[in-house]
Amino acid sequence: MVYQNILLETNERISTLTINRPDKRNALNQATRDEILQALNSLNRSAETRVLIVTGAGDKAFIAGADIGEFEGRTALTQRESMKGSRIFDALEDFPKPVIAMINGFCLGGGMELALACDIRIASDGAKLGQPEINLGIIPGGGGTQRLTRLVGEGKAMELILTGDLIDAVEAKAIGLVNDVVPARELQDRVRGLAGRIAEKSPIALRMAKEAVKTASRLNLREGLDRETDLFSLTFASEDKTEGVRAFLEKRKPDFKGR
Ligand code: COA
Repeated sequence: MVYQNILLETNERISTLTINRPDKRNALNQATRDEILQALNSLNRSAETRVLIVTGAGDKAFIAGADIGEFEGRTALTQRESMKGSRIFDALEDFPKPVIAMINGFCLGGGMELALACDIRIASDGAKLGQPEINLGIIPGGGGTQRLTRLVGEGKAMELILTGDLIDAVEAKAIGLVNDVVPARELQDRVRGLAGRIAEKSPIALRMAKEAVKTASRLNLREGLDRETDLFSLTFASEDKTEGVRAFLEKRKPDFKGR
């Protein structure tokens, strides 16, 4: 598959999907959203990929939001139609392998929503984050009002969404929006190191763990606990569980095969 708007590479069980429109600050146009969906489908099927890193090309932006040029001329109906076709945010959230957002600059609007749909967010110290849609007379439409609120609480989410103000990476960490802030020159190594540590775990356990944690914001506590019990029990059907327990008892490193 040849992509025009993204780059895809896989190295030592870690795949990196790079939005590659640096001249447009990696803004998400329709073609880019379609390519992201196709890439997620193929990475999902590939046993080689155990962890996915999502980032933006260049040193200025992670993703500066939806491509605002495409909004001009859109009616409510055509906008709704265009959103149905490419629900990249849901596809990322439901992607069965861990996804890390490597936030290397402006992370705005749809870019922030894409980061929110990832499992872990690591930002460079120069990154700026926000939901500036209100300045265009619109509101977040890629999950921002829901996922941001669940992550940082209603008060902070309201403030960010109602003012459209950008915050820096240090403040983003303080409110729990990003997991960590690292110097820009160390960002790639730190994120790859984190991805590498996760990639060594059992892919089956990772999948169950992600699904179980996601359940916490979808179901009530009793249903969530029941789901956790089911997923926990299911890991006992894997060879990886046998290997993990045996390796511990034999005082050696486990070699998880994803079976
Ligand atoms: N959609 C479409 N084009 C965008 C874009 C977006 N979301 N963000 C940036 N671009 C384009 C600019 O139009 C410009 O294109 P041009 O060179 O053809 O004129 C190019 O990317 C560079 O942007 P510029 O504003 O010159 O870069 P900057 O480094 O000074 O500022 C931003 C970067 C991200 C702060 C600024 O571009 C911006 O505010 N973008 C819009 C953010 C936004 O509102 N996102 C939410 C959308 S719902």
